[in-house]
Amino acid sequence: MQRLSFILIFILGVSAAYAQNPHGEKLTIDCKACHNSGSWLYNANDTLFDHNDTGFELEGQHLSTDCKNCHNTLVFDQAENTCVSCHTDVHSMSVGDDCIRCHDASNWLVDDIPELHEQNGFPLLGQHQVVSCSDCHVSETNLRWDRIGADCATCHMDDYNASQNPNHMEAGFSTICTDCHDVFADSWGAENFHFFFPLTGGHDISDCAACHEGTNYSAASPECVSCHLDDFNGVTSPNHVASGFSQDCTMCHDIAAWSPADFKSHDDEYFPIYSGKHESAWNSCVECHTTAGNYTSFSCIDCHEHSNQNEVAKDHDEVRDYVYQSNACYSCHPNGDGD
Ligand code: HEC
Ligand code: HEC
Ligand code: HEC
Ligand code: HEC
Ligand code: HEC
Ligand code: HEC
Ligand code: HEC
Ligand code: HEC
Ligand code: HEC
Ligand code: HEC
Ligand code: HEC
Ligand code: HEC
Ligand code: HEC
Repeated sequence: MQRLSFILIFILGVSAAYAQNPHGEKLTIDCKACHNSGSWLYNANDTLFDHNDTGFELEGQHLSTDCKNCHNTLVFDQAENTCVSCHTDVHSMSVGDDCIRCHDASNWLVDDIPELHEQNGFPLLGQHQVVSCSDCHVSETNLRWDRIGADCATCHMDDYNASQNPNHMEAGFSTICTDCHDVFADSWGAENFHFFFPLTGGHDISDCAACHEGTNYSAASPECVSCHLDDFNGVTSPNHVASGFSQDCTMCHDIAAWSPADFKSHDDEYFPIYSGKHESAWNSCVECHTTAGNYTSFSCIDCHEHSNQNEVAKDHDEVRDYVYQSNACYSCHPNGDGD
C-alpha cells in the first residue's frame, strides 16, 4: 500500500511537473537550478543557473538586461542568437549582417576605424587622415557605408581632368593614379610622383623622354647600366673596363653624382677605408691602388714613412719577420690598425 501510494504520488508528481513546465519539452536543465524557494518565481540572486552554459554568453550590457527582453516567451530556446535578430541593422545592409566584425555587447561605438580601412586596402594616411567621413562616404545617411572601392579615380577624376601641370589628359596618362602617385600621398606634388624610381639628384629631369620613349612607360629598366653603359665604357679615371669593375654601378655610385664614388662594400670585403684608421686618410683610390687599372695591387708604404723607414721599423723592434713591403704590411694589418 505504501509502495502503491508512492508510485501514485510519483506518477502524479511527474505529470504535474510536465503539466506545469511552461518552458517547452527540450529544456534539459534541472527545475531546481532556477526554482528552489518553493515557488515558480525566478530569483536571479539565488540560482544555480549560469547562462554561459547555454552556449550564448552574456557579456557587456547583456548582463544587466532582463531575461524577458530577450526571451519574450518562457520557451528559452526560441531566442535567436545572432545580433541582427534582436537589433536593427541601422546600416541598411551596407556592411553585411555580421555585426561582431565591428561591435560587441558593451556599446555601439567603434574605435578601430583606421584598422577597418587598412583591412579594406585603403589605409587612411596623408590627407585622407584629416578628411571627414562624409567627404568620402556620400550615402544618404551617415550610417550607410556603401561600397566605393579603393580606386583613386573613383574620387579624383575631377582632379585628373583639371590637371594642368602636366595636363594628364593631353599627355595620355593612365587613370590608374598609383602608377605614378603614392597611395600614402600627402599631395599630388613632385615628392610623391614617380616614387618607385625617385627623380632626384642627377635624375631631376622634367623631360620624360630622356628615359622613356613615347608613353610606353613600362619599358624602362631601373638598372643603371641599361641607360649608362656608354658612361661606364667612357670613364678613363679610373678606367672601369680595364679595372674589371662590376656593371652594378650601385656598388660604388648613387644617383646624386658619379663623383665622388662610394665603394661601400670595400670595408667588409677588402680593407676598411670608410671606417677605422683610414677613414678620411685618403683622397683618391689611386693613393693605395697606385698601378693604373689594376685594383688587385696596392701600396701601403707610399704613405707610411716612405722617407723614413726607420720610424716604421722602430714600431716593429720586437716584431719577428717584419719586412718593409706592402703585401707584408697588409697581411699583418688586414684591418689597417695596430692590433
Ligand atoms: C533556467 C532557469 C529555469 C529553469 C531551469 C526552469 N525555469 Fe521555470 N521559470 C523560469 C523563469 C525565469 C520563469 C518566469 C518567472 C519569473 O520571472 O520569476 C519561470 C516560470 C515558471 C513557471 C511559472 C509560469 C508562469 O506562467 O508564471 C513554472 C510553472 C515553471 N517555471 C516551471 C518550471 C519547471 C517545471 C521547470 C523544470 C522542468 C522549470 N520551470 C525550469 C526559469 C527557469
Ligand atoms: C541578451 C539576451 C538574453 C538575455 C538577457 C538572456 N538570455 Fe537566455 N538566451 C539568449 C539566447 C540568444 C539564447 C540561445 C538560444 C538558443 O540558441 O537556443 C539563450 C538561451 C537560454 C537558455 C537555454 C535554452 C535551451 O534550451 O538551450 C536558458 C535556459 C536561458 N537562456 C535562460 C535565460 C534566463 C533565465 C535569463 C535571465 C536571467 C536569460 N536567459 C537572459 C539570450 C538571452
Ligand atoms: C536575443 C536578443 C539579443 C541578441 C541575440 C543580442 N542582443 Fe544585444 N541587446 C538585447 C537587448 C534586449 C538589449 C537591451 C535593450 C536595448 O538597449 O536594446 C541589448 C543591448 C545591447 C547593447 C547595449 C545597447 C545600448 O544602447 O547601450 C549592445 C551594444 C548590444 N546589445 C550589442 C549586441 C551585439 C553586438 C550582439 C551580437 C553579438 C547582440 N547584442 C545580440 C538583445 C539581444
Ligand atoms: C564594418 C563595421 C560595422 C559593421 C559590420 C556593423 N556596424 Fe554598426 N556601426 C559601425 C560604425 C563605424 C558605427 C558608428 C560608431 C561610432 O560612431 O563610433 C556603428 C554604429 C552602430 C549603431 C549606433 C548607431 C547610432 O545611431 O549611433 C548601431 C545600433 C549599430 N551600429 C548596429 C549594428 C548592427 C545591428 C550591425 C549588424 C547588423 C552592425 N551595426 C554592423 C560599424 C559597423
Ligand atoms: C578618404 C576617404 C575616406 C574617409 C575620409 C573615410 N573613409 Fe571609410 N572607407 C573609405 C573606403 C575607400 C573604404 C573601402 C570600402 C569600399 O570599398 O567601399 C571605406 C570603408 C569604410 C567602412 C566599411 C568597412 C567594412 O569592412 O565594410 C566603414 C564602416 C567606414 N569606412 C567608416 C568610416 C568612418 C566612420 C569614417 C570617418 C571616421 C571614414 N570611414 C572615413 C574611404 C574613406
Ligand atoms: C573614397 C574617395 C577617395 C578615394 C578612393 C581616394 N581619395 Fe584621395 N581624397 C579624397 C578626398 C575627399 C580628399 C580631400 C579633398 C580633396 O583634396 O580632393 C582627398 C585628398 C587627396 C589628396 C590631397 C590632395 C590635396 O590637394 O591636398 C591626395 C594626394 C589624394 N587624395 C590621393 C589619393 C590617391 C593616390 C588615391 C588612390 C590610392 C586616393 N586619393 C583615393 C577622397 C578619396
Ligand atoms: C604617367 C604618370 C601619371 C599618372 C598615371 C597620373 N599622374 Fe598625376 N601627375 C603626374 C606628374 C608627372 C605630375 C606632376 C608632379 C610634379 O609636380 O612634379 C602629376 C601631378 C598631378 C596633379 C597636380 C596637377 C596640377 O596641375 O597641379 C594632380 C591633381 C594629379 N596629378 C592627379 C592625378 C590623378 C587623379 C591621377 C589618376 C586618375 C593621376 N594624376 C595619374 C603623373 C601622373
Ligand atoms: C631618369 C630617368 C627617368 C625619368 C626622367 C622619368 N622616368 Fe619614368 N621610369 C623610369 C624608370 C627607370 C622606370 C621603371 C621603374 C621600375 O620598373 O622600377 C620608370 C617607370 C615609369 C612608370 C611606371 C611604368 C610601369 O610599369 O608601371 C611611369 C608611369 C613613368 N615612369 C612615367 C614617367 C613620366 C610621366 C615621366 C616624366 C614626368 C618620367 N616617368 C620620367 C625612369 C625615368
Ligand atoms: C632609364 C634610364 C636611366 C636609368 C635606369 C638610370 N639613369 Fe641615371 N641618368 C639618366 C639620364 C637620362 C640622365 C641625364 C643625362 C645624363 O647625364 O646622362 C641621368 C643622369 C645621372 C647622373 C648625373 C650625371 C651627371 O653628369 O650629373 C647620375 C649620377 C646617374 N644618372 C646615376 C645613375 C645611377 C646610379 C643609376 C642606377 C641606380 C641610374 N643613374 C639609372 C637615365 C637613367
Ligand atoms: C668598384 C667601384 C665602381 C663601380 C662598380 C663603378 N664605378 Fe664608376 N667610378 C668609380 C670610381 C672610384 C670613380 C672615380 C670617382 C672620382 O673621381 O671621384 C668612378 C667614376 C665614374 C665616372 C666618372 C666621374 C667623373 O666625374 O669623372 C662615371 C661616369 C662612372 N664612374 C660611371 C659608372 C657606371 C655607369 C657604372 C656602372 C655601369 C660604374 N661607374 C661602376 C668606381 C666604380
Ligand atoms: C687605404 C688603402 C686603400 C684605398 C684608399 C682604397 N683601397 Fe681598394 N683595396 C685596398 C686593399 C688593401 C685591397 C685588398 C687587395 C687584395 O685583397 O688583394 C683593396 C681591394 C680593392 C679591390 C678588389 C681588387 C681585387 O682583388 O679584385 C677593388 C676593386 C678596390 N680595392 C677598389 C677601390 C676603389 C674604387 C677605391 C676608391 C674608392 C679604393 N679601392 C680605395 C686598399 C685600398
Ligand atoms: C693615403 C695614405 C695611407 C695609405 C696608402 C695607407 N695608410 Fe695606413 N695610415 C694612414 C694614416 C694617415 C694613418 C694614421 C691614422 C692615425 O694616426 O690615427 C694610418 C695608420 C695606419 C696604421 C696604424 C693604426 C694605429 O693603430 O695607429 C696601420 C697599422 C696602417 N695604417 C696600415 C696600413 C696598411 C696595411 C696599408 C696598406 C694596405 C696602409 N696603412 C695604407 C695613411 C695611409
Ligand atoms: C710580421 C708582422 C708585421 C708586419 C710585416 C708589419 N707589421 Fe706593423 N706591427 C706589427 C705588430 C705586431 C705591431 C705592434 C707592435 C707593438 O705594439 O709593439 C705593429 C705595429 C705597427 C704600427 C704602430 C701601431 C700603433 O698602435 O702605434 C704601425 C703604424 C705599423 N705597424 C705599420 C706597419 C706598416 C706600414 C707595415 C709595412 C711596412 C707593417 N706595419 C708591417 C706587425 C707587423
